[in-house]
Amino acid sequence: MKITAQIKEPIRQEMELFEKKFQGAMASKVALLNRITYYIVNRKGKQMRPMFVFLVAKMLSGGQVNDRTYRGASVIELIHTATLVHDDVVDDSNKRRGFFSINALWKNKIAVLVGDYLLSKGLLLSIDNGDFDLLRIISVAVREMSEGELLQMEKARRLDIVEEVYYEVIRQKTATLIAACCAMGACSVQPEENELIEKMRLFGEHIGMAFQIKDDLFDYTDEAIGKPTGIDIKEQKMTLPLIYVLNTCSKEEKDWLINSVKNHNKDKKRVKEVITFVKKHKGLEYATTKMKEFQQKALSILDDFPSSDYKEALTLMVNYVIDRHI
Ligand code: IPE
Ligand code: IPE
Ligand code: MG
Ligand code: MG
Repeated sequence: MKITAQIKEPIRQEMELFEKKFQGAMASKVALLNRITYYIVNRKGKQMRPMFVFLVAKMLSGGQVNDRTYRGASVIELIHTATLVHDDVVDDSNKRRGFFSINALWKNKIAVLVGDYLLSKGLLLSIDNGDFDLLRIISVAVREMSEGELLQMEKARRLDIVEEVYYEVIRQKTATLIAACCAMGACSVQPEENELIEKMRLFGEHIGMAFQIKDDLFDYTDEAIGKPTGIDIKEQKMTLPLIYVLNTCSKEEKDWLINSVKNHNKDKKRVKEVITFVKKHKGLEYATTKMKEFQQKALSILDDFPSSDYKEALTLMVNYVIDRHI
């Protein structure tokens, strides 16, 4: 069985029902919006975030999810989708999930508004059902994601990002939402257990860190991942492989690298040279090592729980985050 099928096995029914609920949660009276959300649901992603919600909830409850768990999963996927639609505007990216991005098909103006719509639909789903504990978890994530994206932009403008700040950027822009998935999964079934919720939040945060380092490694490859690669340098986004190499190369090399990112970032040949340089100087190896450290931290949290099909699937999923090809 494929690894993804293996992970989904213990939550198959939940994921099927989730998909129906998720589609319904997007519905609008405006025909244009429905056309666009129809386009979105037909090009679904890996759905890793709802999977985390269900697996954590089932691990902690011995297999019993409830309506709050479903709503939590829908809210998270709505917000994730909203941030991707916005992210492709911010990054000027024309591909997502193997197809054209919303901004590529309908232009930036529409993509910004669709993102806002999805975000508000997500928040309202919690509010309308009185899930205020879940709403707090998700609202923190929404705030942090915006801060993370803006911190990244500030650093891209000044080209002075250091390793610690890189971790802060990816914690905010990516890890915080995966942390929210795991916290919500826990909170949906054990609302009073604050320590447990915090523990699962931290578990998700470690996974999220590894997840984004993997995403940043993809940018240095030619793998067909359904979205453009090699665009980070073009967008003057310095990620871990490059940050490491900047810290370990000579002054002349560093000046050349910074000058390349600053003044020649749209020159395809020069960008290729930078990528080759980063690879030659072990930037990808270093980032891979760091990614695996976060993976281990996540796995060690799971160690504290008794074995079950759900824990097994979560373990597989943590490993899938770093072994995936898409
Ligand atoms: C992409 O997330 C955005 C990042 C945080 C890197 P996913 O890789 O989970 O996107 P989909 O939903 O599967 O397309
Ligand atoms: C992903 O940002 C995190 C978000 C807030 C969406 P990236 O710009 O690194 O992600 P991809 O590579 O476009 O999915
Ligand atoms: Mg981005
Ligand atoms: Mg992007």
